[in-house]
Amino acid sequence: MKKFVCKMCGYVELKDAPPEKCPQCGAPASQFEEQEDALKTDADESGLKEKHVPEITLSGDCSMAEGCVDAHIKVGSTLHPMEPDKHWIMFVDLYLDNEFISRIKFDPAHMNPAVSLHLKTSEGELAVVSHCNLHGNYIGRQNLAR
Ligand SMILES: [Fe+2]
Repeated sequence: MKKFVCKMCGYVELKDAPPEKCPQCGAPASQFEEQEDALKTDADESGLKEKHVPEITLSGDCSMAEGCVDAHIKVGSTLHPMEPDKHWIMFVDLYLDNEFISRIKFDPAHMNPAVSLHLKTSEGELAVVSHCNLHGNYIGRQNLAR
């Protein structure tokens, strides 16, 4: 899938034009380049999507904060390997209605490629882009309305 990617930090803009500056690292629009395969699709390289497409499940039973929507994210229906210096999920970028909200980095020596969010909204669509150091970016989406 054709998208604009920040050459400095690997952020993928989900809209059709590059942002004025990268919301993750602050690099200017000139640092963005259009890449043909910025986001891998389900049709690409079958066999890889099972370990790379982020899976998102929602629950509302949080005891930590009132009224929040919990989004549990794991990378791959089969969990992706986390091998330091070899093959790992470096980060996931999070978007609400295609607007960047945050990046979660994973230390492969100490973390699995999974994270839970406590969202202050129950509307819109959460998108998660996973970044594998070898295989690139994959996207998962989940509507928050339940
Ligand atoms: Fe991978």
